Amino acid sequence: MRVMLFPGHTLGSITYVCGDAAFVHDTLMQPDVRTAQADFPGGNIKQLWDSIQIILALPTETRLFVGHDYGTEDREGPMWGATVAEHKAENQHVKDGTEREDRIRRRDARDATLPLPDRILAALQINLRGGRLPPAEDDSRAHL
Ligand SMILES: [Fe+2]
Repeated sequence: MRVMLFPGHTLGSITYVCGDAAFVHDTLMQPDVRTAQADFPGGNIKQLWDSIQIILALPTETRLFVGHDYGTEDREGPMWGATVAEHKAENQHVKDGTEREDRIRRRDARDATLPLPDRILAALQINLRGGRLPPAEDDSRAHL
């Protein structure tokens, strides 16, 4: 199994490649959901684009398993993966023929309209401490 650092969605996004399967974290979503935000702390749209290009250079039959999926207005229920070929044909953000600078400009513009995800500030406080809660305060409780 290869472990590959693919920053962009976050600074520490990684992908595990094992045979014809790759577990791509949130670097890619399902083709009909497209790609993840790149405006979180440590995120970078240019790095996200470059990371995705390396993933899409894997053999076309490689199955890409996403970190999460919730369905869409047109698709009820979650899915877990799609092939490189399916992303290259169907993912509107990265399909064949997509121009790097145009995609980066569009992603930046869209991210500027999105609110912070629910509970991200609490999650970051724990992530930055390596999964630990903050120290207890005077009431003996950890507060986020
Ligand atoms: Fe994420």
